Amino acid sequence: MSKQFDVLVIGGGPGGYIAAIRAAQLGFSVACCESNPYADPKGEPRLGGTCLNVGCIPSKALLHTSHLFEEASHGFAAQGIDVGTPSIDVAKMVGRKNGIVKQLTGGIKMLFKKNKVTLLNGHGAFLGQKGENWQVKVGDSVVEAKQVIVATGSRARHLPGVPVDNEIVCDNEGALDIAAVPKKLAVIGAGVIGLEMGSVWRRLGAEVTLLEALPEFLSLADIDVAREAAKLFAKQGLQIITGIEIGDVKISQKGVSIDYTDKDGQEQRLDADRLIVSIGRIPNTEGLDADKVGLKLTERGQVEVDAHCRTNLPGVWAVGDVVAGPMLAHKAMEEGVMVAEIMAGQAGHCNFDTIPWVIYTSPEIAWVGKTEQQLKAEGTAFKVGKIPFASNGRALGMGDSSGFAKILACAQTDRILGVHIIGPNASELISEGVVAMEFGAASEDLARICHAHPTLSEVVHEAALACDKRPLHF
Ligand code: FAD
Ligand code: NAI
Repeated sequence: MSKQFDVLVIGGGPGGYIAAIRAAQLGFSVACCESNPYADPKGEPRLGGTCLNVGCIPSKALLHTSHLFEEASHGFAAQGIDVGTPSIDVAKMVGRKNGIVKQLTGGIKMLFKKNKVTLLNGHGAFLGQKGENWQVKVGDSVVEAKQVIVATGSRARHLPGVPVDNEIVCDNEGALDIAAVPKKLAVIGAGVIGLEMGSVWRRLGAEVTLLEALPEFLSLADIDVAREAAKLFAKQGLQIITGIEIGDVKISQKGVSIDYTDKDGQEQRLDADRLIVSIGRIPNTEGLDADKVGLKLTERGQVEVDAHCRTNLPGVWAVGDVVAGPMLAHKAMEEGVMVAEIMAGQAGHCNFDTIPWVIYTSPEIAWVGKTEQQLKAEGTAFKVGKIPFASNGRALGMGDSSGFAKILACAQTDRILGVHIIGPNASELISEGVVAMEFGAASEDLARICHAHPTLSEVVHEAALACDKRPLHF
């Protein structure tokens, strides 16, 4: 006897659990199946996917602890605080991180109960169609639902011939659980994970080298931001080598030895105690049995969807990392809400042009909209307002005044086209740019909004004024 629901969500990460909750709020009977590779020591399955278990949340917990450690080691003295030489208890740091994960993943279970979402513990794979319903095998049972949302997420891409044991060679999972600060840490891929996890272990005392294939550092970010970041990270001692090609990687009990060709074509070798491989992620579509129902995948193995996350099959949707677009938790959640609302006959909507990006390094990097190089490439005339945090009283008071805020506005209409921030609390400050762009605001609109003093947000205000060449504090 099969179980029947209006909606079955496959995957309980941010895309899936949010879609399930929103669909239940809208009156559907909903089940969410989760294959649960993440279980606590007692074997209890955990919701929350990559984000809560081995991604956003645990990495930010470690970034916070390591930031405090660095402040205590190098920042306090300038403010007259003497704490001697601080030490780090890595096991305690990791334990604290695990506690936060447990609390939050347990919280999603409670939310499922509150919203009457049925949690099915098992791997979901398409079986076929019966009447108007899709049949999905979940573990040993068959589930039937008129609407199916695929939210199976992604997993780390590994280097061919470099097995990840999460001891010597780590992907994102092992990088969050290193038991002792390595003396030398190598990272392949200077993208978001490489920079965040590299920062954690550098702050705690590791000598960190990042090897990046692309010739340009942080090419997704605005060019000014990337240059400032490269300068600041180098000053912190994070060694970033771009334009390399990885050759042989030898792994032993003691560590790794990485041969690579540098950008001048010279053969080089990097020896390290540990290696983090962070070279992007691949969508989880294997094992879904997409071919049994003719679910169309892209060449890159993602589920093919339109702008409303509809697949080629009626009633089958896909959201989050398993579809194209930035692999970000908030993008997955927005898509989950959109799909549930469209299913309920509402005008579900996701504005892909205003999805913010954040890199939680120190200083933080955040942006929304277009970069200077994108605007130049598309031939859009624009004006720039750029203000350093060094001109901001709050930033100086905090002892954290590196970086700047930069606003790009259309030369003709003054509409804001991009906001780029590198500096303290950029992750929070970027929301103002998102709201402004979501409402189609002009730089003049931001310039005329009263910002509290003294706050870091005044830098964004001044950048808006600077678009019209009339900053007041710079
Ligand atoms: P996932 O979170 O991957 O969830 C998919 C779920 O589906 C998993 O639980 C999986 O077990 C389950 N599943 C897979 N196949 C099946 C199946 N056949 N049947 C049943 N269940 C299945 N994003 C941010 O926005 N901010 C950050 O700060 C951030 N930090 C990150 C740090 C790291 C180290 C990493 C790795 C990622 C980070 N991300 C961050 C990205 C973020 O984690 C993902 O974009 C987000 O988790 C995607 O959500 P999702 O629901 O699409 O997929
Ligand atoms: P990434 O795409 O951010 O960076 C991967 C980097 O590895 C790129 O710069 C790429 O050029 C490089 N690379 C690829 N192959 C290589 C090779 N063979 N040798 C050397 N370099 C190589 O991917 P990453 O860091 O693995 O993170 C995956 C995704 O997870 C991110 O794209 C992001 O969507 C998400 N994430 C988001 C975070 C956030 O929002 N703060 C934090 C961490 C991850």
